[in-house]
Order: sequence, then C-alpha cells, then structure tokens
Amino acid sequence: LRRAAAAVRETDVPVAFPTETVYGLGADAGRTAAVKAIFVAKGRPADNPLIVHVDGLGMLRGILRGQKVEGGQTDTADPIPPIYRPLVQRFWPGPLTIILPLPPASAAPSPLAPETTATLSTFGARMPRSLLALALIRASGRPLAAPSANASTRPSPTAAEHVVTDLRGKIALVLDGGPCAVGVESTVVDGLVSPPVVLRPGGVGLEELRGVPGWEDVKVGYKDRAERDEIKEGKGEQRKGPRAPGMKYRHYAPRAPVLLFEAGTPAPAAEDVAVRAAGASVGVIRTGTWPRAFGLDITAAEDLDTAAGTGAPVSGDAAAGPGAEASLRVYDVALGPDTSSVARGLFAALRALDECGTGAIYVEGIKEESGSGVAAAVMNRVRKAA
Ligand code: TXA
Ligand code: MG
Repeated sequence: LRRAAAAVRETDVPVAFPTETVYGLGADAGRTAAVKAIFVAKGRPADNPLIVHVDGLGMLRGILRGQKVEGGQTDTADPIPPIYRPLVQRFWPGPLTIILPLPPASAAPSPLAPETTATLSTFGARMPRSLLALALIRASGRPLAAPSANASTRPSPTAAEHVVTDLRGKIALVLDGGPCAVGVESTVVDGLVSPPVVLRPGGVGLEELRGVPGWEDVKVGYKDRAERDEIKEGKGEQRKGPRAPGMKYRHYAPRAPVLLFEAGTPAPAAEDVAVRAAGASVGVIRTGTWPRAFGLDITAAEDLDTAAGTGAPVSGDAAAGPGAEASLRVYDVALGPDTSSVARGLFAALRALDECGTGAIYVEGIKEESGSGVAAAVMNRVRKAA
C-alpha cells in the first residue's frame, strides 16, 4: 500500500487495485500526465471519461467546492445535490457511480484534470466498498481516476491475475485483493436530469434504486447493444450519442465469438454444436438448466484452474452421439445457481475459455427479473460481448 500510494503521489505510472466490482487502474485524478498514462496503458479512447474514486463524502465535497486538496473547508452548505444525498447514504460505500457537475471554471486550478472527465462539464464519482481501495485513496490523499484495469475492449478484470494478463509491463504494480465480490461494474446514474436515469446497469439494481426517495421514477437510459450500431443506422438524422460515452464502444469481449441464448429460448442442440465446432473446441457457460457439455457424452474430463476461483471449467472429449466421427473438446463452466454467483464468475469464465483456445463460447442467458438485481448488468455485458 505504501509503494502504491507513493506511485500515485510521485509518479505518472498507474497502479491497479481491487474494488468490490472489478479491478481498477488508478491515478491522481487531478494530474494530467498521470491520467493520460491510464489511457495509454489501456488503449482507451480519450473521449471516454473516467470515474473518480473517493474515500468518503469529505473528499467529494472538496472536489465539488473546487478545492485542489480536501479538508479545512469552512463553508457549511453541503455541495452534494439533494437528489443524491439519500442515494449515497443508502449505497455508499458500494457499486454506485453518480454524475455530478464540475465546479465552475472560475474555481482555479480545477480539482480534476480535463482528461479525467474527457472535457465534459460533469464527472462520475464513486466510493468503493473494498478496504484496499479505500486504504489506497486514503494513503494517497488524492481522489483516484480509475477505469476498469483491463485492456480496452477485453472482459473486465475480477482478479489480480487478469490485470497482469492484460497490462503486464505497462503498470507499476497490482494490489492483490483476491477475486472481486460483485464481479460486474458499478451502476452509473444521472440525477441531474428529471426523471433520473441509469446510464449503465451494474451492482445496484433498478428496483433497489426505486426504493430511494426521489428515485421512484428512475428510467433506463442505456441500450444493451453497442450503441455505435444505432448511430450508424441513424445516418444523416443527427442522432445524439449515448449519454455515458463509454457505452458506445465494443466491450467485455473475449477473442472467441460469443453465442448468447436468451433466457427462455431452447438450449442449442448437441448435434448443432458439434457441426458448428467442426472439430475445434467449444466453451459453454451454463447458468441454470442446460445439461453439462450440452448433454454430449463426455469420455474424459479434467478440471482446469481459473484465476478467480469461481468454479473451474471442466474439459472433456465429447462424442456427438452414436456414429459421430470427430470428437469434440468441450470446456464447461457452471456459474449458477444464483444471480450473484453468475455476476461474480462471468468475466473470469469468458477469460478462462479464451485461454483454453475455444473457437466459440455458448452462454445460457439469465432472466432479468430474477434474483438480486444484478441480472440486468450481467445480461447487458453478455449482450455487448455476443
Ligand atoms: O465499478 C466500476 O465502476 C469500475 C471500478 C474500477 O470502480 N470502474 C469502471 O470504470 O467501470 P470504466 O471507466 O470502465 O467505466 C466508466 C463508465 C463509462 O461508461 C463512462 O462513459 C461513464 O462511466 N462515465 C464516466 N464519467 C461520466 C460522465 N461524466 N457522464 C456520463 N458517463 C460517465
Ligand atoms: Mg471498463
């Protein structure tokens, strides 16, 4: 922690750290050179703003008041907009990011580097629940600009090993906090518009938000497809881009094509899988009722290790029924039974199946009404990957 905090304060090399959602790649949110290095390490487009991570409301109020460093303020009025107060009281620390107005440009120097906000007039803020994350922010004494610590477009990292796979040689160190407890990113909400909107589904579900005063009518303001498609289809029509700029990019994708079967649709037939695979290996991520390895007859099985410890994929050579000629290697991951375990294991499963060299990954979708409210985030991420 001391080395990581020193890197944040004294160098322009970003530091990876765990949060309860996914691992983040952090730097001093107020320093241009440090924030630029995050974009370079990830290969992230510069027009996609970063979330500012704070260790508490004091640090957030300091930013809103336009202070370069927190503490020592005499102003008694709370600069946090009233709409957000019951929300952060309920969900912070935790997987929720709120969009806030930047202090007026007259407050110089600005507490946030323009690169952090991609020159928007707003910024996203969140207080993570992970103790290592909070300790790093506290020890640095700086708000941390931090996107997920994956290479841009890859599945988000939910274990330190995933960060090393993507960013080895590009960052100074990773604080290893083990696998992430939630497994999908924070919910991003905008309460500066009426009614408020969810810009990205995440660890806090819509129904949970609706239980908070002022948030009863919160609307869904995101699409599950890559939003770039829509902009293209809208040709000449002057369509507006997505509200959360990051939602327009290809995201969360492993190298292998992902074939998503929405909840309630029939499982793929074993014979079809065998034909499609054409002798190559396939992966399957099961979440409920699909039979192991599509019900193919597994002749050999071995356990493989996954970094996140979320249930190892099982591989086996399967025969596609009597008379089938080629045998097929199937890597099978079961993520159920509940929604939160699916969320926790999803990104690790996509990564593990990629490392097995599978030619295609079949995913059994989950019902969005079911379970703890992270189902919408799970399906949003899989649809974007598929
Ligand atoms: O759980 C999380 O939020 C993780 C951990 C590390 O905290 N971070 C994360 O960051 O997912 P990132 O950069 O991968 O995603 C940030 C999302 C993007 O979709 C971005 O466009 C949106 O938040 N965002 C950030 N600032 C915004 C703003 N001012 N207005 C609208 N959307 C914003
Ligand atoms: Mg990300």
